[in-house]
Amino acid sequence: MSRVVVTGRVPDAAIEKLRAEHEVDAWSGPESIGREELLRRVAGADAVVSLLTERIDAELLDAAGPQLKVVANVAVGYDNIDVPACTERGIVATNTPGVLTDATADIALSLILMATRRLGEGERLIRSGQAWKWGMFFLLGSSLQGKTLGVVGMGGIGQATARRAKAFGMEIVYQSRSEIDPGVAAELGARRVDLNELLTVSDVVSLHCPYGPATHHLLGAEQLGAMKSSAYLVNTARGPIVDEAALASALREGRIAGAGLDVYEHEPRVHPELLELDNVVLLPHLGSATVETRTAMAMLAADNALAVLGGDRPPAPIG
Ligand code: DGY
Repeated sequence: MSRVVVTGRVPDAAIEKLRAEHEVDAWSGPESIGREELLRRVAGADAVVSLLTERIDAELLDAAGPQLKVVANVAVGYDNIDVPACTERGIVATNTPGVLTDATADIALSLILMATRRLGEGERLIRSGQAWKWGMFFLLGSSLQGKTLGVVGMGGIGQATARRAKAFGMEIVYQSRSEIDPGVAAELGARRVDLNELLTVSDVVSLHCPYGPATHHLLGAEQLGAMKSSAYLVNTARGPIVDEAALASALREGRIAGAGLDVYEHEPRVHPELLELDNVVLLPHLGSATVETRTAMAMLAADNALAVLGGDRPPAPIG
């Protein structure tokens, strides 16, 4: 029997699955586990099932000890894990691709609609108690039909977002490290372009690339400046892909029309200027937040950990 440390609350089904075979120490506090407590608990662990709120770095791996075999992240993004430090120590790192594709694409599409149709503004107006009535020019937004969606990062979530946008009548362009399956490109009528062209031609730019040194501030002042002044930016990927201060200035000065954000550069802190602006919709990292999706993510993470502990290849290794 091995020792599995789970760094935060996850659906019971995943804990039960792990407990059927191993000793499980799962943090169940209402707040995220503190760093000191985490370093203390991982000592002697054979597997760590981590949430994206916990930093899994060399210090933590060393605190766990040489018996640690697997770090199973309950997320598709793994910028919280120092993967090279895991590899150096012979520790397998895993993530949860696929199971949150639809939920995250749903949120991307929601943000596209919320931003372009000014739904957040409308909701805030009603709740503020201000007087309002139907008017020909009251809270006019922009239509999606015939407009262009630029998808940055055309993996599973990018493709699922494009598929939804196409159903709303949008044309699709995308920027990606590699060509996508030609059948999918044909189905979506999607054209691969470079980032600069994408920013120039898109009416909505939606970010779906992973975060790492290569994508840090991929969208800064210059890139935001290349967008149409009528365009919208949506980010459901990772906050630091966008230079948040530059975004706040572009929104304030009307250099782009609006934005919809689910993730933040210094999460959970939101740039104070964004909080003051009406033309940005702000969600608290809800991309994968459905009961079904979070359960599937936790179960896949459990399967990853169990496979490695059992000497097998995990279903979703990173890299
Ligand atoms: C992920 O899995 O990376 C998501 O951001 C979680 O919502």
